[in-house]
Amino acid sequence: MASSSTPYSEELTCPICLAIFSDPVILFCGHSFCRECITLSLSSQQQCPQCRTPVPTQMGHFHLTTNHILKSLAEKAKETERLKRESGKDEVSGWFCPEHEEKLKLFCITDQQLVCIICRDGAKHEGHKFKPVKEAAVSLKAELEAFVQQVSCDNVSIEKIATTQNEEITKSKEKFQQLMTQISSQFKEMHQFLKKREDEIKEELKLKMKDEAKKMSENLETIETTLSGGTELDKKVKLVLEMTDSEKFLKSWAEENSAKTARRAFRPRGTSFKVVNSSLSLMPYESHLQFFVWKEMLQVIQPRAEQLKFTTKGPAAVSVDGRSLLSACEQCQQYQYVQQPTSHSYNSYNYDQRQTYSDNNYYRTPRKYDKHSSAFSSNKFTSGQHYWEIDVGQKTYWEIGIEKHFLKYDGSTYTVFDGNGSKGLFHGSPKKIGKIGIYLNCSSQELSFYDADTMTHIHTVTQRYASQTLSAYLKIGNYKDNYPVMACWY
Ligand SMILES: *[C@@H]1O[C@H](CO)[C@@H](O)[C@H](O)[C@H]1NC(C)=O
Ligand SMILES: *[C@@H]1O[C@H](CO)[C@@H](O)[C@H](O)[C@H]1NC(C)=O
Ligand SMILES: *[C@@H]1O[C@H](CO)[C@@H](O)[C@H](O)[C@H]1NC(C)=O
Ligand SMILES: *[C@@H]1O[C@H](CO)[C@@H](O)[C@H](O)[C@H]1NC(C)=O
Repeated sequence: MASSSTPYSEELTCPICLAIFSDPVILFCGHSFCRECITLSLSSQQQCPQCRTPVPTQMGHFHLTTNHILKSLAEKAKETERLKRESGKDEVSGWFCPEHEEKLKLFCITDQQLVCIICRDGAKHEGHKFKPVKEAAVSLKAELEAFVQQVSCDNVSIEKIATTQNEEITKSKEKFQQLMTQISSQFKEMHQFLKKREDEIKEELKLKMKDEAKKMSENLETIETTLSGGTELDKKVKLVLEMTDSEKFLKSWAEENSAKTARRAFRPRGTSFKVVNSSLSLMPYESHLQFFVWKEMLQVIQPRAEQLKFTTKGPAAVSVDGRSLLSACEQCQQYQYVQQPTSHSYNSYNYDQRQTYSDNNYYRTPRKYDKHSSAFSSNKFTSGQHYWEIDVGQKTYWEIGIEKHFLKYDGSTYTVFDGNGSKGLFHGSPKKIGKIGIYLNCSSQELSFYDADTMTHIHTVTQRYASQTLSAYLKIGNYKDNYPVMACWY
């Protein structure tokens, strides 16, 4: 019911809904009602609900005229009520349904809003669930508290992630610093080595220079002494020549240590002296300085590539030092390997007969061999990082890596195997790679392949290796090609 404190509230109240008029209309009898209320009422009885005067219809419709004055007054009254409610917000008693001017005593759970009793029965809330305001507040508060709990739980887990992220940022910075320091110290070592060699080579040149300068200046001294001796003689003889008196001249000629003796003793020496030519040279260090020093540096740098030694149970031939592998040729005689080299490097191979042909009297019972033979390094890797290089040269079939994780070349295509599946690399017609670099990180179980001539990354395989102890793996095939495959030793 409309609040009695609003002026003319009774006059502005609809006799049907007992709330302040909404869109009031006036009937011919002079009574006014909300348009909605009277429409509803006239649908059952066609008379004024207050004075029972029949209400005429025009072509089946009721002619309902808006009561403009009443309408504007009602709107003002509603506004006054609204303002009043807002100023007295805290008082629950001040909360009224804006539509029905009723106390908001219920909470519609379906629509999540406060409603009055009239709203509950209206069409807008048909079939909805309601709760008394207090009860609804208690249960909603409980729900909210659970929600806050959930938020703070979530907050805790998010905070954990944030902490971890911060730790990772710190770690990353530390790793960066550590790597920077490492780079500096490693370059410093190389710089120191280079500086030392530079000083040594310069020192060697200085010694050579000193030695040569000494020889040259000694030679020059001798020449100059001789030259000054010649001048003395020249003076003496000229003095004698200047004598005009014949007697005196001849007397002087006859004397001891005279021009005569000088003439007799004189030997032309212009051809007996030789120029000491400059011969400063550093030999190969003069033309190939950088290459020679780079080679020297290989001997001091740490860590170096692994020096792999292979052993095989297959029909392949392994060199005595274990470094290289050659396909066994089923038609070939053993000595063909040694006597008919296909390349000069091959000459130096001295295949160990016992090791190579230990299985089953190769000669006595020649049999067809599997085209391929695999070999494993005697070097074992269990931890840390390892790098090695294999010179595949012209070989037309090879597999390189560790067991089940390797790079394969079959004469035209490169394929990488990760212990689970395989993947083709370099589609099209790939450039032939002459030297493969293999990098194994035992901690991360990552195996990377590189073109070792340019250190270009080819592929990285990440898989759980079955074994904790790993060896380098090598397989060669195509017994018809006589090219060896060789581990690079530096
Ligand atoms: C969630 O964490 C932020 C930052 O630590 C904090 O400001 C906020 O109050 C927390 N919220 C809750 C619900 O715990
Ligand atoms: C020294 O060099 C000159 C040309 O500069 C040459 O004619 C001479 O034969 C050289 N002497 C020696 C000993 O090499
Ligand atoms: C192979 O890879 C698939 C998916 O990457 C994985 O589910 C499966 O366990 C792997 N198998 C082996 C033997 O590693
Ligand atoms: C090796 O793998 C471990 C573990 O993933 C990683 O922490 C380390 O940085 C790697 N080392 C190198 C040199 O790549």
